[in-house]
Amino acid sequence: MKIYLSQDAVARALGADDIAKAITDAGHDLIRVGSRGMTWLEPLAEVDVDGVRHAYGPLTLADVPALLDGTLQGHGPTEDIPFFANQTRLTFQRCGVIDPLDLDAYRAHGGLKGLERAIGMDGLGVVEEAKASGLRGRGGAGFPTGIKWETVAKAEADQKYIVCNADEGDSGTFADRMIMEGDPFSLIEGMAIAGVGVGATKGYVYLRSEYPDAIRIMNEAVKIARANGVLGASVLGKGPAFDMEIRVGAGAYVCGEETSLLNSLEGKRGVVRAKPPLPALEGFLGKPTVVNNVISLATIPVIFEKGAQHYADFGLGRSRGTIPLQIAGNVKHGGLYEVAFGLPLGEIVNTIGGGTRSGRPVKAVQVGGPLGAYFSPDQFDTPFGYEEFDGAGGLIGHAGLTVFDDQADMLQMARFAMEFCAVESCGKCTPCRIGAVRGVETIDRIAAGDEAAKELLTDLCETMTDGSLCALGGFTPYPVMSALTLFPDDFATTKEAAE
Ligand code: NAI
Ligand code: SF4
Repeated sequence: MKIYLSQDAVARALGADDIAKAITDAGHDLIRVGSRGMTWLEPLAEVDVDGVRHAYGPLTLADVPALLDGTLQGHGPTEDIPFFANQTRLTFQRCGVIDPLDLDAYRAHGGLKGLERAIGMDGLGVVEEAKASGLRGRGGAGFPTGIKWETVAKAEADQKYIVCNADEGDSGTFADRMIMEGDPFSLIEGMAIAGVGVGATKGYVYLRSEYPDAIRIMNEAVKIARANGVLGASVLGKGPAFDMEIRVGAGAYVCGEETSLLNSLEGKRGVVRAKPPLPALEGFLGKPTVVNNVISLATIPVIFEKGAQHYADFGLGRSRGTIPLQIAGNVKHGGLYEVAFGLPLGEIVNTIGGGTRSGRPVKAVQVGGPLGAYFSPDQFDTPFGYEEFDGAGGLIGHAGLTVFDDQADMLQMARFAMEFCAVESCGKCTPCRIGAVRGVETIDRIAAGDEAAKELLTDLCETMTDGSLCALGGFTPYPVMSALTLFPDDFATTKEAAE
């Protein structure tokens, strides 16, 4: 009996390691894999029946005997579960399928084909392929990855770097963590291809300290890749040199901002640098540096394996390819759902997510992390795409969606956004450092019945938007103003009148 069991941090937090021990103690073969992304089914075990994996979960220790004697009620073939079957898995094609640290399994499932192909091209050919795919930065800003690479490739320098931003700080997001825990070689391969493309020989993954499993797995994966000649003096034994290491952050949200990250990586305080100069020209240690998010880089191998056009054929408008949606909050079926751009927001929340876990009506969805705008059900026809969300007054950010039911108090959520900004501000510029503190106070005045404070809050948000140096201060007004305009009843200074 061949059994697969998730070793994702979510599954482990829910007791997967004890379940694993019970299975192996009973003498069965067990392969620990990453997550299939169906968080509500974790810990998820899969039993191989004639080459088809059947899903069982959420599993408890008490379920193990029934799992092993075949009497446990399951969900049938994993890949037939609608949440899974309706996805287009490109970036996450191997996640949950293979042992994350088995390089042979990685190869057997299409891994390293992209790198092989990239090595056969010249640097600018690699850059052109990235451009043709239409891939845009999945960290949130959506800047075209190939154009960023081109800037670095064309810069004259004795040393260039690839830096992976794995400081996934947005609340309700976990795609970076899931791929690093479930398919770390895809990130390594993507970084090596980027290195070949721009002429960089060294890479760093800046990984947040809150992800101990990802840190351990990435470190192991780098060692295995090096020992097997994937990385080193000549990638795959025939390409240029490329090696990399994992660096651990110390837990500041602002270190997910690329210039602050670079300061931290250099051993300095994580304070935002003014741009220009762009990191693409003067980045790590002042050298031309590609700074890309985990998902951007981990998507590169499949683009090079299947061809840029294959990837670009998915999507909507200028949002090409697939996006790993992370559905979280008060939702029935939370998890990671990779799909081509273009799905309407309402379908993501109600059909895929199954509505709220509490069973109450959906009141709001925050899209794009703590700096993202709230959306109300009236906006549920908005298609998931960079320009479409921008046009609706929001942003898709790192594609995290947090669902709230009708019991959420949106004034408190707006207050939380300002409080978060005040706590996480790097302190470099006044609109953010002081503005966020004043924002909390102003929202408290509204809560206490001061009607005039609403105009003050609007003014303050305009100042923060226009005057902040980076997205932390500049985007905090998104959740605040969307809450204020979409849910005026929650900001009513005479609550009785609103009710
Ligand atoms: P940005 O718009 O300033 O820059 C986008 C990227 O393009 C940067 O890497 C920049 O250096 C690069 N770039 C711009 N022009 C270029 C050129 N001509 N050549 C080469 N590279 C060029 O956006 P920023 O401030 O880097 O990111 C803001 C986004 O970060 C927000 O949209 C937010 O959603 C997201 N974010 C994500 C978080 C996460 O946990 N993933 C956390 C916080 C914010
Ligand atoms: Fe620092 Fe905030 Fe200014 Fe960004 S907006 S540079 S986090 S003070």
